[in-house]
Amino acid sequence: MSAPGKIILSGEHFVVHGSYAVSAAIDRRVRVAISETPGQEFEIVSNEESSHLFADDERFKAAKSVLRRAIEQYGSPPTGIRVEIESEIPPGSGLGSSAATSVATSAAFVSFMGKSVSSEEVLRLASEGEKSVHGNPSGIDMRASYLGGIFLFNKGSGAKPIPIDRALQFLVVFSGKSRSTLELVSKVNRKREMFPASFDRLSQTASFLSLEVAQAVAKGDLPYLGSLMNLAQLSLAWIGVSTQELDELIETILCGDVFGVKITGAGGGGSIIALPKPDKADSLLHLVTTKYKSSFLTSIPQEGLRWES
Ligand code: PMV
Repeated sequence: MSAPGKIILSGEHFVVHGSYAVSAAIDRRVRVAISETPGQEFEIVSNEESSHLFADDERFKAAKSVLRRAIEQYGSPPTGIRVEIESEIPPGSGLGSSAATSVATSAAFVSFMGKSVSSEEVLRLASEGEKSVHGNPSGIDMRASYLGGIFLFNKGSGAKPIPIDRALQFLVVFSGKSRSTLELVSKVNRKREMFPASFDRLSQTASFLSLEVAQAVAKGDLPYLGSLMNLAQLSLAWIGVSTQELDELIETILCGDVFGVKITGAGGGGSIIALPKPDKADSLLHLVTTKYKSSFLTSIPQEGLRWES
């Protein structure tokens, strides 16, 4: 099984407090394969590390939480299992690595146990992985990993796919600084407690921007989409999730041929996204890769959860 990471075009953080947000799957994925092994060992491995399901360490936290919950529910498989995880998404980069891992692990285990892979079941188990890493996630990352595409999301009403005629292309720049979503969400909570009225107004603005973003995406109105992204960035800076390095990176990118640029995900490091002008994506990528080597272009829409042979 494999599941994609995500970007958020508008509404991150505010979505935790009930606002609308817009998210899309990207073409960076996490692949999870589960196979039987002799004996009773439950081993989890990737290219870099390995651990055991009940080992008390921080490795593979999201996958372990999903698997422990799944075993409580379905019982242990009769043999040992080997869970192989191959990820193209750096952890803590704001690109939904834990959600993609949780969704792919959940679906791989349900299918390994011979059960039907329903969306409710996959998302319910995957939420255990997300909670272990994020505390109280809005669920937007998991929806992107499961559904793919691009969609408007709200905690109450769930995900509503946005139909698009022509693919969109975004530049994604990982600052190289991994950080904890849980800590950033707590920081934003403190800001909200300090300035409840302003925060409330900004939450309403985030919903308004997200509804406008959804329409701009559906119409293919890239200049307007870019200007909405720039506006969303101002709110993210106010709630304190930008950093001096991200501000400088955003300034640099704004000197290139872009319609808009903003943090994506929790901020505090992590990644930014930019919407290039037509035919300028490659030159924009070139502008940032000298310093930020893991930058890449992704087209939208991308497939969500999928079977891998
Ligand atoms: O940075 P990430 O990929 O963990 O994105 C989190 C998005 C938030 O809105 C900050 C949190 C959430 O649960 O929605």
